[in-house]
Amino acid sequence: MEKRKIILDCDPGVDDALALAYAAACPDAFELLAVTTVGGNQTIEKVTRNALDLVEFYGLEVPVVKGMAGAIVREPLYAPETHGESGLGSCVLPTASHSVEEENAVLYMHKLLMGLPEGEKITLIPTGPLTNIAMLLKLFPEVKEKIREILFMGGAACGGNVTPCAEFNIYVDPEAAKIVFHAGIPLVMCGLDATLKCCLTRSQVLKMCQSGNKVAKACGDMVGFYLENTANKYRGVASIHDVVPLMYLIHPEIFTPKRMILDVDCSEGVSRGTTICDFRWWKHEEEEMTALVLMDADSSKFQEYLITALYELGETLKGGE
Ligand code: BDR
Ligand code: CA
Repeated sequence: MEKRKIILDCDPGVDDALALAYAAACPDAFELLAVTTVGGNQTIEKVTRNALDLVEFYGLEVPVVKGMAGAIVREPLYAPETHGESGLGSCVLPTASHSVEEENAVLYMHKLLMGLPEGEKITLIPTGPLTNIAMLLKLFPEVKEKIREILFMGGAACGGNVTPCAEFNIYVDPEAAKIVFHAGIPLVMCGLDATLKCCLTRSQVLKMCQSGNKVAKACGDMVGFYLENTANKYRGVASIHDVVPLMYLIHPEIFTPKRMILDVDCSEGVSRGTTICDFRWWKHEEEEMTALVLMDADSSKFQEYLITALYELGETLKGGE
């Protein structure tokens, strides 16, 4: 399999933390160049602290870079009821010895992209609000040439989670999403249509919490909080949304993509933050339909691949202790 150079732009966040674990568990598939943070699930200070601790806990050696604190236009919005006061549920990680890079993530990404050898491109994987990516594209449009594609977790062709029709990451900063959607870069939208099916069950999570595997246990503690303390408890399963863009790159066969034109509602009405997915192939030229939207996923394959990867990472780290 081709190894991709990626930047994970995230707001850890329980499921962001599992996405980072999955990336760390698949070194043959991903060359992680940087972890950039954005205010979303928790404040920029908390998500950056979490990113630093997670990187070290997973045995990664990768720069962590702090990005935008909140949305371009609106006040920041957080999700402590879902991800807890720290952002990582009830999991307490050792404090990392490394510190954050000095530059802002937007400037850091610009430098990294423009410093790539001729002809090389990077895949961006945002799993939080699209604020950093929108700022990057607005300030430095020349970077578009250096971006292979953007696979983001956010939006939905149908329905929402934070409101009846909007998904959290897009709702937090719809203006940023609009900039990204109209940048002319190939997009893969890993939205709720697929990610709600990419879940772990209560018994899978319990088993992870009780295991002696350090990665599985930590991830179990994070997801356990999410399962027990939020409105999700009536679902009995916890969706691990942010793993999906990464897993799609390795196992595209378990997802059902559909070609669309993407837009977003930036009005102040009840549908603010709703992603608009135009799939009318009979109205548009094929080359205009630049976004792939994941419409479905195979739940049991997702569970199998994710759980296996988490345990493998824990085993690898044990070997290195
Ligand atoms: C998205 O919102 C956040 O709370 C999660 O981390 C995920 O990125 C799901 O709607
Ligand atoms: Ca996230």
